[in-house]
Amino acid sequence: MMNINFRMVVVWLLGSFVIGVQAHERFGERQVEIVPTKMWNDMNGEYINAHGGGILTYGGKYYWFGEHRPATGFATEVGVSCYSSTDLHNWKYENVALAVSQEAGSEIEKGCIMERPKVIYNKKTGKFVLWFHLELKGKGYEAARAGVAVSDTPTGPYRFVRSMRVNPKIYPLNLSPENRKTQWDWSKYKEWWTPEWHKAVVDGLFVQRDLKGGQMSRDMTLFVDDDGKAYHIYSSEENLTLQIAELTDNYQDHTGKYIRIFPGGHNEAPAIFKHNNIYWMITSGCTGWAPNEARMFSAPSIWGPWTQHPHPFIGPGAEKTFGGQSTYVLSLPENKYIFMADVWKPDSLMYSRYIWLPIDFDKAGSPVIEWKNSWKPVF
Ligand code: DGJ
Repeated sequence: MMNINFRMVVVWLLGSFVIGVQAHERFGERQVEIVPTKMWNDMNGEYINAHGGGILTYGGKYYWFGEHRPATGFATEVGVSCYSSTDLHNWKYENVALAVSQEAGSEIEKGCIMERPKVIYNKKTGKFVLWFHLELKGKGYEAARAGVAVSDTPTGPYRFVRSMRVNPKIYPLNLSPENRKTQWDWSKYKEWWTPEWHKAVVDGLFVQRDLKGGQMSRDMTLFVDDDGKAYHIYSSEENLTLQIAELTDNYQDHTGKYIRIFPGGHNEAPAIFKHNNIYWMITSGCTGWAPNEARMFSAPSIWGPWTQHPHPFIGPGAEKTFGGQSTYVLSLPENKYIFMADVWKPDSLMYSRYIWLPIDFDKAGSPVIEWKNSWKPVF
């Protein structure tokens, strides 16, 4: 009797092992296509936790960096996660690229908020540079800082360098000499959204307020141009105005050269790419975690002039970006581009979903992004 039971247990164990391996393989193979908004698992079958992210292409691999979000709550408990892939649909979990600090008082202390991490490679220094939006522990979204971290390898671990507001004591290139001199009477602008307040915002009310300590920096992305110069693009001035700031040669600081675009336009979630020498930028409006109608801009130079266009989306839900919010555009060889967005789930940010779609161009050369239930990137 004992023998039979023992054999049954062995058979059952072996069976479970075989089924387990098959399931594991099935998980590994499951991501044969990109299926926007569905659950995306890594090659271990774990949910991919890399939100508000971006992709670094390096050494024949793609590295996806994103916010590691908790199942409940909003604060960062882990840090920035990193996954790698050779085909953009099978993702291997690498590690925590930048970990929160356990040290009380650290700027990146566990419980801070790390958002929208992006990594670029600096050919001159051979270092990988990670920038992210940082909010200090317990301060909500008031700090509005940019954080920078570096590593000698793409996957890290990255060493936190510092955080900062942008370009203290320096005016943006395109703020007029008159507006630089304005002495704002703040008692007149306590109420937001009045026509007077809006004009004051356009004329640099918040630039002036933040001049000494540096400009606010929340939602952000990075862009490396063909000449190797890199730019930090971020929602500034209480999320009312986007700014574009040039980075230093080592990509770890700002040079002091920056512009404002669409003052008072209330743009978040910038994602930028360059196609046929035109710079294109897709952004969202500011409605927290809820989706809204995207915006699109183009310019012949990173320094502008920037022109607004209708949003590029086509298909069900296009008016609200298919339920998502832009985070990055991945540029691939042969003029191919992938638009990446997050579908936020504020009740459980960890399980926020992803939308990745290919970018096409219409006859006039403007980007068009059509909904697809599933698709496969072709290289
Ligand atoms: C919208 C931003 O785009 C997100 O990155 C995040 O900061 C949320 N707001 C917070 O409400």
